Amino acid sequence: MPAVVVVGMQFGDESKGAVVDYLAEWANLVVRYNGGSNAGHTVVANGEEYKLHLIPSSVVREKKGVLGAGVAFDPEVFLEELRDLKSRGRNIDVLVSLKATLLLPYHKGLDSVISGGRLGTTKRGIGPAYQDKMARVTGLKVADLFSSNFPQRLKEVLEIKESELRNAGILTGSIDDYYLELLTKAEEWRNSLSSFVGDDHLEVNGAIAEGKFVLFEGAQGTMLDVDHGTYPFVTSSNPVAGGACTGAGISPLAIDSVVGVMKAYTTRVGKGPFPTELSGNVADYIRDKGGEYGTTTGRPRRVGWLDLPMLRYSAMINGVGYLAMRKLDVLSGLDKIKIAVAYEIDGEEVEIAPPYVNELEKARPIYKELEGWEVDDWKKFVKGGWNSLPEEVRNYVSFVEKEVEAKTILIGVGPDREMSIPTQHLKEIVPS
Ligand code: IMP
Ligand code: MG
Repeated sequence: MPAVVVVGMQFGDESKGAVVDYLAEWANLVVRYNGGSNAGHTVVANGEEYKLHLIPSSVVREKKGVLGAGVAFDPEVFLEELRDLKSRGRNIDVLVSLKATLLLPYHKGLDSVISGGRLGTTKRGIGPAYQDKMARVTGLKVADLFSSNFPQRLKEVLEIKESELRNAGILTGSIDDYYLELLTKAEEWRNSLSSFVGDDHLEVNGAIAEGKFVLFEGAQGTMLDVDHGTYPFVTSSNPVAGGACTGAGISPLAIDSVVGVMKAYTTRVGKGPFPTELSGNVADYIRDKGGEYGTTTGRPRRVGWLDLPMLRYSAMINGVGYLAMRKLDVLSGLDKIKIAVAYEIDGEEVEIAPPYVNELEKARPIYKELEGWEVDDWKKFVKGGWNSLPEEVRNYVSFVEKEVEAKTILIGVGPDREMSIPTQHLKEIVPS
């Protein structure tokens, strides 16, 4: 049975949550491998909407979830999400890696003061937490929280960070009071978290060895990858499929397939280049119809046409063999729909997006126009399946499939779990 990575091919918000929830019907384990509470995974099932930030989307189907070593773990957000889900009657089975990076309140403060405005981050403390992880002397892991050494380690960390925290205006009073405040919080977290923490490597590799169906749930998207995205307008982790290996402690050989999730158009929240960006009526139409406002921050998302050079780049970096294309319903009502098939950069035609800010800013999309479709009620198509869909919809999907060289397993025509339409290829990746 397979291990499947679900990865975002654009700038995040591709509806990975919905795809993971769909595939989780067959899964035994769902593993988050990167990012933290900057993610906003929306799942709508049986008329109920869940907006998840840290807990894997498996929780909606009450499947086991894991937060891997690659995650930036914010205990405050986790415990709040846990309370909320419990109050909604969810049984929660989730394991938090002892190797995950501990994200503390001052990381959120630093993010707001330093990176928030300049990069348009979610202000969830992601960058500063990973910065400390890489610096090592100022990094703390979940395991540290459970070590008898924790008070000592925290003291050392605060000594090094004191001037930074003062400069940023996060620490205004005495460092000793601040230390004691954090220590008290840590004590509470330790008590509430002790039954959740453990060895993610044993859990995940054990499940793979037993032949269970394991899903790896990427957060953010390929173009926001710290190494492969539009640096510096990126997040601080590796959303790409390879991030599942480092972030969950599995071998590359353990991965059977990669599902690339994409919207039928493009959106971006936060700063950075966006070659196919639209403004005006069409942008407003798509934004409103698609509810394109950030799950985590509520910011209006920037909107544009589908970008094949970007998708080709993404498919290559991730080894995308299968596609899930979401939100085709949002494009309904447009007479013609454009797709960028290449860029023109300095007079040259380019088919694979160069992920460099300077190049992307110069890129002039070369568009192909496809026929639009007009559908008000998708229910009959959901019932009728792929073959019942309007020809224009099937043409759109098939065109992208051909250009990206991947097979579509699923399309989405609405946020509800019921509004996903599988294709014949779905059975190639889920257990029969
Ligand atoms: P950070 O991850 O909060 O540091 O933000 C860095 C960039 O990634 C900003 O442009 C954010 O808007 C963007 N970003 C972070 N998480 C998500 C996400 O889950 N979906 C979409 N964009 C995101
Ligand atoms: Mg999101």
